[in-house]
Amino acid sequence: VEPGGEQNPVGALISLADYEREARLRLDQDAFAYYAGGAADELTLRDNEAAWRRLAIMPRVLVGVGERDAGVTVLGRRRAHPLIIAPMAFQAMAHPDGESATARAAAATGTVMCVSTLASVSPEAVAHAAPLATRWFQLYVFKDRGITAELVSQAVASGYEAILVTADAPVAGVRERELRHPVRGLPVQLGDALAAGGGTLSPIAAAAQFDPDLRWADVAHMSRECPLPVLVKGVLTPGDAERALAHGARGVVVSNHGGRQLDTVPAGADALPAVVDAVGDRLDVLVDGGIRRGTDLLKALALGARAALVGRPVLWGLAVAGEDGARRVLEILLAEFDRALALAGVPDAERVGPELLAPARW
Ligand SMILES: Cc1cc2nc3c(=O)[nH]c(=O)nc-3n(C[C@H](O)[C@H](O)[C@H](O)COP(=O)(O)O)c2cc1C
Repeated sequence: VEPGGEQNPVGALISLADYEREARLRLDQDAFAYYAGGAADELTLRDNEAAWRRLAIMPRVLVGVGERDAGVTVLGRRRAHPLIIAPMAFQAMAHPDGESATARAAAATGTVMCVSTLASVSPEAVAHAAPLATRWFQLYVFKDRGITAELVSQAVASGYEAILVTADAPVAGVRERELRHPVRGLPVQLGDALAAGGGTLSPIAAAAQFDPDLRWADVAHMSRECPLPVLVKGVLTPGDAERALAHGARGVVVSNHGGRQLDTVPAGADALPAVVDAVGDRLDVLVDGGIRRGTDLLKALALGARAALVGRPVLWGLAVAGEDGARRVLEILLAEFDRALALAGVPDAERVGPELLAPARW
């Protein structure tokens, strides 16, 4: 059923905003605060969505859009579309099937899934749950490098296709919603390794284990040693994108971590063009933050991203209806993207360029 189509029964959830509203009703307050919240005054969190809205689409008409191709090339591989599921920790709090359900939704829709280091289950278990899903592994580098090495080799052995090193979380952001609504210790695969015996971990306790001294030399080391392509997630400036390239990364994710780390940094959409200008011809530049509509995805490509990651809406789908809900969220976004390609007069996703956009005047 198409979003907005006549076949949707009255009251059905037909947009990502509908899923967010419904998830908020179903999740307990603490879980919702952890998922939805951002850092400090949440200016960056709000601007992530607003920045896409500040861009108007300048459509072409009468170009013939009967056949459309949403396909793009990412890390040298052809993919059916440019949507990727962002790495998000602790998905078992949204639904008991957690990351396994998300991975199955990814497989069903041809979407790449990034599996978080702080997943509720191991990278191997996610691979078993959805062997057909294309999976990338998101790496938080711990002070204990033994844990890091073990995670990477498990990811390599269980068929993950890339490593995403998160660079914007040397320490946790100032998350006031989390302080007001603390989530109790959550079962994570690394609980036993990181907590003193308990087997569960709060998000804050987990972040305290990350190595705040991670440097570019570590990225260079990983790029050399790891058989998988390494991407650096959390880059916001052209200078850092150049450094990622110089230290062997294959790509960068222009991201502010969903507004959860340093408040008042720019939105993904606003930081993207300068990074594309600097390295877009030599690195795969991806973007995330505030992607909520098919038109946002179109705008990300127009600004030069090869693909875009969507975060929270997948958790809303998961909270509402497990695997089916997560799948539905992805299907809605992809159907909207297809509609946007047609209506903007750009039937080939790989040919979408900056001429498609103008500053919005509303
Ligand atoms: C609940 C939650 C948990 C997250 N956990 C991680 C994580 O473990 N590793 C990581 O690199 N990014 C993490 N992120 C950031 C996302 O990967 C992504 O950058 C961001 O959520 C995208 O913005 P969006 O939620 O507005 O789509 C998390 C985000 C949320 C909302």
